[in-house]
Amino acid sequence: MSIQIGPLKLDAPVLLAPMSGVTDLPFRRLARRLGAAMETSEMIACREAILRTDSSRRKAGRASDGAIMAVQIAGHDPEIMADAARFCVDDGADIIDLNFGCPAKKVVGKLSGSALMRDECRAAEIFEAVVGAVDVPVTLKMRTGWDENHRNAPKLAQIAERSGIRLVTVHGRTRAQKYNGQADWRFIRRVKEAVRIPVIANGDIRCLDDIAACLARSGADGVMIGRGACGRPWVIGEAIRYLADGTRGQGPALGEQMAIVLEHFEAMLVHYGEYRGVRNFRKHVSWYSNGLPNSTGFRDRIFKLEHPARIRTEIASFYSATIDKAAA
Ligand SMILES: Cc1cc2nc3c(=O)[nH]c(=O)nc-3n(C[C@H](O)[C@H](O)[C@H](O)COP(=O)(O)O)c2cc1C
Repeated sequence: MSIQIGPLKLDAPVLLAPMSGVTDLPFRRLARRLGAAMETSEMIACREAILRTDSSRRKAGRASDGAIMAVQIAGHDPEIMADAARFCVDDGADIIDLNFGCPAKKVVGKLSGSALMRDECRAAEIFEAVVGAVDVPVTLKMRTGWDENHRNAPKLAQIAERSGIRLVTVHGRTRAQKYNGQADWRFIRRVKEAVRIPVIANGDIRCLDDIAACLARSGADGVMIGRGACGRPWVIGEAIRYLADGTRGQGPALGEQMAIVLEHFEAMLVHYGEYRGVRNFRKHVSWYSNGLPNSTGFRDRIFKLEHPARIRTEIASFYSATIDKAAA
């Protein structure tokens, strides 16, 4: 299974979802080392991209050579979005992804993110302006619609295709659902049947069986995994191997997991500096340890620590004790 995104060929049809505050450069680098073939930046507001703020540069950084790099932009003004796309391509983006899915009030309030699904004329203007502004493929990430009574993703995908968009990803929920309820993989089939460009299905894919079920129900060309990769940056690589030859990975052994957690922590310190690196890492360490014995106490201890050396020691002793217990 491979996907053609304009002139770019993606051999592995499993994508890591963009997640603000999670899939930053350290996380994407790890996912890439563990088998991911493509990376998408966290959402970047167009004005930030144009001003090339420190934050936007940090978000748009390429995690590794050799992987296709999509930079996701959010906005509502076609010309400003076109300018932002140009800047991102100048800085090295291989793909521009348009955010039509974010449900957050502060984004929707500015008529960006999923609010754009309510205005098909504006959407078409954005597609045409951005596609016309850059010579790399432009892709779209959206939801099924604004709410249950307005599930216009199939129509919007057709508008996008006519405007030159090269791939659509659909999170199988409406904006009204935010993250509640279940992603509707069956509805994504309506998008797939409406267009010829590749369609990626997204939402609630947690394990290898979910991938098979989602592909069967949606008829999509590939899948995108978000929260299922939190604390498990290896799942994208595992999913790619599963689709390639049916191999069912069990996740890395505990010793290897410890090495991954420590590698992730070091990368966070380099990327954000010590103060923010330590704080931003807390959610990751919480996800990594979730489900392991005595993880609640481990989290309580590590959340109070400020000094990197003490955090490293705490991680090493927690995992070593867990490994010993598993061997006993
Ligand atoms: C913490 C968090 C941050 C997110 N940030 C973004 C974002 O920046 N851009 C985007 O298109 N979607 C974003 N999403 C949505 C995900 O990409 C994905 O569509 C959604 O989580 C459903 O997939 P999942 O069930 O596999 O997590 C975010 C989701 C979460 C949980």
